[in-house]
Amino acid sequence: MKNKILIFGATGMLGQRCYEYFAKKLGYTVLCSSVEGDFYDPSATYVRCDITKRDEVKKVISDFFPDFIINAAAFTNVDKSESERETAWNINVKAVEYMAEGARNCDAHIIHLSSDYIFDGIKGQYAEGDKPNPVGYYGRTKLAGENALKISNALYTILRTNVLYGVITKGRLDFVRWVVESLRKGERIRIVTDQINNPTYLDDLVRAISQVIEFRKFGIYNIGGREFLSRYDFTMRIVDFFKLDGSLVDKIVTPDLKQPAKRPLNSGLVTLKAETEFGYSPTQMEETFRIMQEELGI
Ligand SMILES: NC(=O)c1ccc[n+]([C@@H]2O[C@H](COP(=O)([O-])OP(=O)(O)OC[C@H]3O[C@@H](n4cnc5c(N)ncnc54)[C@H](OP(=O)(O)O)[C@@H]3O)[C@@H](O)[C@H]2O)c1
Repeated sequence: MKNKILIFGATGMLGQRCYEYFAKKLGYTVLCSSVEGDFYDPSATYVRCDITKRDEVKKVISDFFPDFIINAAAFTNVDKSESERETAWNINVKAVEYMAEGARNCDAHIIHLSSDYIFDGIKGQYAEGDKPNPVGYYGRTKLAGENALKISNALYTILRTNVLYGVITKGRLDFVRWVVESLRKGERIRIVTDQINNPTYLDDLVRAISQVIEFRKFGIYNIGGREFLSRYDFTMRIVDFFKLDGSLVDKIVTPDLKQPAKRPLNSGLVTLKAETEFGYSPTQMEETFRIMQEELGI
């Protein structure tokens, strides 16, 4: 029975939720890893590891000898990726190479997370076979991370996703909670009307990882939400559900933000392949808000 999972990036948004699901709900033997501090749950088995250090990565893997490695670790700051290129490359590309080496040595299956930012955002609603063409450095590192796995001879699955939100209790706020908390405090928020994608409920992504493990699926799959919509329209759905003051939301376009990194504007990921090959079934948006309201008390 294959039941050992190593999670890199266990303190991140996705990593936390993976720990809750695989260790607490499904009873897998899980080793959590990240780079800083202590793990939020003292009952978890936790090891610190800087994934940019080849020897550390390989030691963590060979000591634990996992059946599956979930790589939820990444340098996820899109703007800082422009100015801190070497760090972004080391975390999003080199570390993936080290993990693949370690995984090969113990025949572990790596489930790696990638992003719609590998696309240029011209066509929109991307399928797995569409041609990548990143417009920023973050997207370039995520694409190079995918390529590192493809040539590694490790057993791998790449799950591409976009705009994660959901039940997160530690660390930074996800987009939904940021909107709810800002508007409840009476703060004005500026939201872009020209970035379109299909926001992904974290627990849908975690279930997709579980299905990949269960059905032994390899290769590339898109994982996203049911609906393609602009960030402004997503915000107004949050406003309506949580009965917030929508007059505090100002419409803007991406150039107004003057951000260092370019973003793919017309983006989003078609999930038909995951739906047909392993029964991926994203939760309806208002239902995800209802669960967040109930579990987070927001
Ligand atoms: N969030 C999104 O909207 C989104 C969209 C598309 C794709 N993705 C992809 O989904 C995955 C998960 O994203 P997320 O938002 O959950 O990430 P996140 O919350 O930013 O967490 C990143 C994790 O990476 C760890 N990490 C960073 N540098 C490290 C290093 N040198 N060594 C070891 N660990 C390191 C962090 O550890 P510490 O906490 O210890 O620093 C943290 O646990 C990533 O691959 C991301 O590219 C995310």
